[in-house]
Amino acid sequence: MGWFCLLTIISALACPSTGDKAAHSRLNLSSLTRELLDSAKEPEFFDWLRRVRRRIHEYPELAFEEHETSELIRSELDSLGIQYTSPLAKTGIVASLGSGVKPWFGLRADMDALPIQELIEWEHKSKNNGKMHACGHDVHVTMLLGAAKLLQRKRDELKGTVKLVFQPGEESHAGAYHVIKEGAVDHVEAIFGLHVSPEMPTGTVRSRPGPLLAGSARFLAKIQGKGGHAARPHTTRDPVLAASLAILALQQIVSQETDPLEARVVSVGFVQANQAANVIPEIVSFGGTFRSMTTEGLSYLQQRIKQVIETQAVVHQCTATIDFLEEKLRPYPPTVNDESMYEHAKRVGESMLGKSNVLLSPMVMGAEDFSFYSKKMAAAFFMIGTNNETEKPTLRLHSPYLIIDEEVLPIGAAFHAAVAISYLDNHAVHKYQ
Ligand SMILES: *[C@@H]1O[C@H](CO)[C@@H](O)[C@H](O)[C@H]1NC(C)=O
Ligand SMILES: *[C@@H]1O[C@H](CO)[C@@H](O)[C@H](O)[C@H]1NC(C)=O
Ligand SMILES: [Zn+2]
Ligand SMILES: [Zn+2]
Repeated sequence: MGWFCLLTIISALACPSTGDKAAHSRLNLSSLTRELLDSAKEPEFFDWLRRVRRRIHEYPELAFEEHETSELIRSELDSLGIQYTSPLAKTGIVASLGSGVKPWFGLRADMDALPIQELIEWEHKSKNNGKMHACGHDVHVTMLLGAAKLLQRKRDELKGTVKLVFQPGEESHAGAYHVIKEGAVDHVEAIFGLHVSPEMPTGTVRSRPGPLLAGSARFLAKIQGKGGHAARPHTTRDPVLAASLAILALQQIVSQETDPLEARVVSVGFVQANQAANVIPEIVSFGGTFRSMTTEGLSYLQQRIKQVIETQAVVHQCTATIDFLEEKLRPYPPTVNDESMYEHAKRVGESMLGKSNVLLSPMVMGAEDFSFYSKKMAAAFFMIGTNNETEKPTLRLHSPYLIIDEEVLPIGAAFHAAVAISYLDNHAVHKYQ
């Protein structure tokens, strides 16, 4: 705080008195957040948000196939008069607002849906069979477009540049990795993202400083034995037994080798062998996920999973191959909130929603590819509540019954915009001439 005040005094002294006054007056956060939220809640604005969200919801598209979603975003940006570059990582878009000078601040929304059949009957149910926005990314895109509209109205007051990152392929496909690899956020110094949470009431947000979400990776193991008649096991090398003991042994990596105060997970999600009860198969495949709140934890688990499976296979005179699928399903690092970015977004949230509506989140073993940004720059990721008791919603993401309270749309739009505007204001590069 002291440091910041000092800077303000120095810049006030150093700047010529004929300079732009607005450039040096401290932002009134409470009036900014009130103004943004009021604007986004105006009936016309809200109706537009709802229309956009429902259109995206009706036409969900899977990772890296978000062509119609991308087209919709571009056409909304066109009508707002906002410039953008695309395509990026196949279907992504980065829009640009403000002066073009530093600082550059990023806001991110993911665009993809899930291979789930929506099971709720309502007017705007998914029209793409077997696909659904069951993780709320339709809401994320809409909130970011809402922020675009709010920011565009204030474009002359932005003390820097806002980059709106519409990112494809969050669900297992590490879209964020590809956005970063293509250089789209090279000069962005800090970034903010929101994820809907049907477990929290509308009008609340939550997060935590430091590690928030787990790093996550997968493995696929194949144990090769020697098949044969189940009546003559001594003539075979039984991969079913080897796999069974390997799976049991995997459980001990967490129970026996992990500090009980540290969170790690190793779960086996599938096992596949022959279908016949009287045949010992040649091969058994199984696979799962492993997670940790730290990068070191994740690589420890990876190394031990390989060792344990290979060794158990040898015990049973079989051989094992373990694939960590790094090319196809790139591991996600942990999502770690930068402490000062977290504090910044928390302050904005408290100003907009009231102190009691900004909660401290527990750590969660779910994963998010927002983590790739958090590895590269100061980042903060917040959950935003979408639970309206009157609608009796289903409280789980990835559920075919997920219901989102659309009242979240203006809140999320205003939250995004306020975090960006106030960040630029706090970090504006003063020019001394
Ligand atoms: C900020 O604005 C609000 C009204 O929007 C006002 O009540 C408050 O006094 C202002 N704060 C400062 C420090 O100017
Ligand atoms: C919940 O929904 C009802 C009816 O749709 C609405 O009147 C109310 O304002 C909503 N509550 C919140 C907290 O958004
Ligand atoms: Zn998801
Ligand atoms: Zn998601």
